[in-house]
Amino acid sequence: MAVGDTYRALHARSLSDPAGFWAEQAAAIDWTRPWDKVLDASNPPFCCWFPGAELNTCYNALDRHVQRGRGEQVALIYDSPVTTRKKSFTYRALRDQVAKLAGAIAAQGVRKGDRVIIYMPMIPEAVMAMLACARLGAVHSVVFGGFAANELATRIDDCTPKLVLTASCGIEPGRVVKYKPLLDQAIELAGHKVPRCIVFQRWQAPAGMVKGRDLDWNETVETAAPHGCVPVESTDPLYILYTSGTTGQPKGVVRDNGGYCVALAWSMRHLYGVQPGEVWWCASDVGWVVGHSYIVYGPLIHGATTVLYEGKPVGTPDAGAFWRVISEHRAMALFTAPTAFRAIKKEDPEGKLLKSYDLSQFRTLFLAGERGDPPTIQWAQKLLGVPIVDHWWQTETGWAICGNFVGLEPMPIKPGSCSVPSPGWQLEVLDEQGAPMKRGEVGALAARLPLPPGTFPTLWNADERYREGYFTEFPGYYKTGDAGFIDDDGYVSVMTRVDDVINVAGHRLSTGQIEEVLGAHDDVAECAVIGVADELKGQVPFGFLVLKAGVDRPHQDTVREVVQLVRDRIGPVAFFKTAIVVPRLPKTRSGKILRGTMQKIADGQPWKMPATIDDPSAIDEIAGGLKLAGYAAKT
Ligand code: COA
Ligand code: AMP
Repeated sequence: MAVGDTYRALHARSLSDPAGFWAEQAAAIDWTRPWDKVLDASNPPFCCWFPGAELNTCYNALDRHVQRGRGEQVALIYDSPVTTRKKSFTYRALRDQVAKLAGAIAAQGVRKGDRVIIYMPMIPEAVMAMLACARLGAVHSVVFGGFAANELATRIDDCTPKLVLTASCGIEPGRVVKYKPLLDQAIELAGHKVPRCIVFQRWQAPAGMVKGRDLDWNETVETAAPHGCVPVESTDPLYILYTSGTTGQPKGVVRDNGGYCVALAWSMRHLYGVQPGEVWWCASDVGWVVGHSYIVYGPLIHGATTVLYEGKPVGTPDAGAFWRVISEHRAMALFTAPTAFRAIKKEDPEGKLLKSYDLSQFRTLFLAGERGDPPTIQWAQKLLGVPIVDHWWQTETGWAICGNFVGLEPMPIKPGSCSVPSPGWQLEVLDEQGAPMKRGEVGALAARLPLPPGTFPTLWNADERYREGYFTEFPGYYKTGDAGFIDDDGYVSVMTRVDDVINVAGHRLSTGQIEEVLGAHDDVAECAVIGVADELKGQVPFGFLVLKAGVDRPHQDTVREVVQLVRDRIGPVAFFKTAIVVPRLPKTRSGKILRGTMQKIADGQPWKMPATIDDPSAIDEIAGGLKLAGYAAKT
């Protein structure tokens, strides 16, 4: 057999017989009631996996391992260089704490199907909060700590939670981020009134409590009775995770229980090559989809040990932090974003700090969240001497669309490519008319329906937005929003987004959303935001402001205020630091802003004057402004 034959046979089977293939994989999960059908795709684009079946995701992640002899195995290692704390939890201890927390949550009237927002830093209580909701069949929605009160308020209004679980603060290197005042402000801003909050107090910044609404975490949990696992339908939502849309209204990506558990179990073994009992580290944040799938649910469902790291790749305390964590906890693999490796490379280009650590048990580095740029991949490969696997996925998909399945059959790695499609993914490259393109040609990446288990069944309260946003442009396909190509060996390369989403340090942001904030400033008549290339973060947002007639304040005052406005309305994670004032924006004759040309100019790439431009001098003004701001401007 040739290299790749095992993968190709498995992939082909997953497409020709999806029900048979996934029914076999579903044996890795404990169900309390079998399914009526493996797949119901009778109402496209909606599709259900394992309808009729019942299970509990928390049971699959904790209780069953305790019952089957893993009770004393470490389930979770908390490693926090920002607080100098480390703590391990066995499966038994984690199960017991989660059961008590679930009891405390249930005591507040939270039942199956109710929503709970979790706004917490990277502490064990955040993981427990997610699992406790899953235990009750309540639907959690984790909001990343780097978002501002306004973003939190939007999510509160969209999913109308009965309860918010939070901590008093998060700890960023050099500053304590007080979460509780942000939550108070968000509750103030939101139309939906949150009746109850449970607050985990951290000594670094204890929070003031609102009488009658806020409860102390430790006190509440201490007196709670442990709660058992509530069976839910396979198709019931496990969580909602908001991600950037094209407007200020984020999209609530819904995840089901059954299909997700099956997909995660399959991927832990076959994509990541993890054996139950091994230590696995995903250095993301529980606020992102990667954190949901591979800090919390995936490794625990699989019976592995997961590392929860509250720190950064550099500065906590140095660029050797990742090597320290891998060697100290004997992690067999690491999953992170390329930006983290660019940060390490910048501080320690020769990798000298690695020499102090023993990484002999380390087998694979997985990268995702943005394109793995070949120089970073090659640097990591040379330094670590293990396979560096770039894999592609999205909040919507819940797990990888493409990857190199090292647990099944390692395939050759091609730097710049995220390798080959996961089971159930039938990818094609389409042109603007929706016609398939030739191998090697760049176009829109789309997947034929049905999508495999684990992918989003809908958007929260927005079935029409789901259909319209992802399935209408190319009927019969899921539009990924990414553009790329597939080569003669079937390897996929993802090059760029086709919409206004940009990727800043592995964080997904919408330029349209930032534009909405800039446009809300009194001085601003019109604006545009583009993502400009950044050596460290991949891309950073950059704003162009056209001021209203009669505004005669110094431009830097307006710029300073809009920068602050984005930080206040979206949050520090937007990393919006720069804007320039221009007399007008370059547009086509039909009024479309020429963002693509502006981006090329900013990135110093060759560009051509678009034939459809309304007034070419607007482009010259942009190029001049960018030059003054220190950006390249080739003509
Ligand atoms: N709470 C509050 N603020 C936060 C935060 C959090 N959880 N996370 C980040 N921020 C703040 C940062 O402090 C920073 O603020 P500043 O502008 O005042 O300095 C801002 O948001 C931007 O943060 P970021 O772009 O993340 O830079 P960083 O220097 O903090 O971290 C990396 C750099 C590479 C470590 C980080 O971006 C990273 O880990 N990225 C990978 C993301 C990821 O895992 N994606 C999922 C795919 S694997
Ligand atoms: P998110 O939903 O935050 O996970 O972001 C998803 C987006 O990140 C994708 O649509 C891609 O644009 C980008 N992305 C994620 N992983 C990769 C990868 N391996 N290669 C290229 N782009 C990626």
